[in-house]
Amino acid sequence: MTQTPQQAAPLRHFLQFTDLTRDEILYLLDRARIIKDDFKRYIPHLTLHDRTLAMVFEKASTRTRVSFEAGMYQLGGSVIHLTTNDSQLGRSEPIEDTARVVSRMVDLVMIRTFEQTRIERFASHSRVPVINGLTNEYHPCQILADIFTFIEHRGPIAGKTVAWIGDANNMSYTWLQAAEMLGFTLHVSTPPGYALDPARIGQPAPHVLKQFDDPAEACRGADLVTTDVWTSMGYEAENAERRAAFAGWRVDERLMSQANADAVFMHCLPAHRGEEVTAEVIDGPQSVVWDEAENRMHVQKALMEFLLIGKR
Ligand code: CP
Ligand code: NVA
Repeated sequence: MTQTPQQAAPLRHFLQFTDLTRDEILYLLDRARIIKDDFKRYIPHLTLHDRTLAMVFEKASTRTRVSFEAGMYQLGGSVIHLTTNDSQLGRSEPIEDTARVVSRMVDLVMIRTFEQTRIERFASHSRVPVINGLTNEYHPCQILADIFTFIEHRGPIAGKTVAWIGDANNMSYTWLQAAEMLGFTLHVSTPPGYALDPARIGQPAPHVLKQFDDPAEACRGADLVTTDVWTSMGYEAENAERRAAFAGWRVDERLMSQANADAVFMHCLPAHRGEEVTAEVIDGPQSVVWDEAENRMHVQKALMEFLLIGKR
């Protein structure tokens, strides 16, 4: 592993959930608790003083930008925000050259982009840690926040059941990685034609993944029900087709009633009320979506700290 002059910790990236070990994920979840408590009590937590985070957005964002930017400032560092259009990436500068240059000047990079191969190419030419802020394939920071939120509300997630209602996308593939690593069961119900790709997932054990044609059956016995937009960023051309295909996969009170009585509802947001979820559910008593959004910041602060200075 390469060690750059700027880093106290060996060079590691977080491009997908499995880039960290189970113990490291559990450490981050514990550390995020401490960091969140400090934040709530106005106790300064300046572990990344003078460090700089560059954020590269090739897709839109509200939560990812605000949570990383506010989080880095709270840790004592600073942030540079780049988008495709306001950088030379939009004028065809190779991603490898961008990585070589940016990573000589900053300590850490967060990227939101399209193909996973694009962030991998960036990371393999970067001198500093690279964090996946969403690709077509994965959204590991979001799942870290979701698991932290579940633990906060309901205790350990091992042995529990998470129901995913929606397509095979960056969120569901990351949920599956987390289920395998942390020992919970993932129920998945996707409309026909939008199932998880067997070539990508291999053959997960039956206690890790159960797939259902009927979304109500997938919700039965779940401790957490979660969904996402019907059309992820980059797939807008499929919008009309998806709206027709997903009509029976809206999370409503009927679906929630199949889950355990104390089940929570999550959505990574942005949400479309009346499409993938009804207003009654997302604005109802089982919904923890606002804590979930806030927790992005706390877990990412723990992650940035870990990648730059290791365990504390
Ligand atoms: N959940 C999430 O990543 O939100 P943004 O697209 O607003 O960053
Ligand atoms: N699956 C969604 C998540 C948005 C945060 C997308 O990729 O657009």
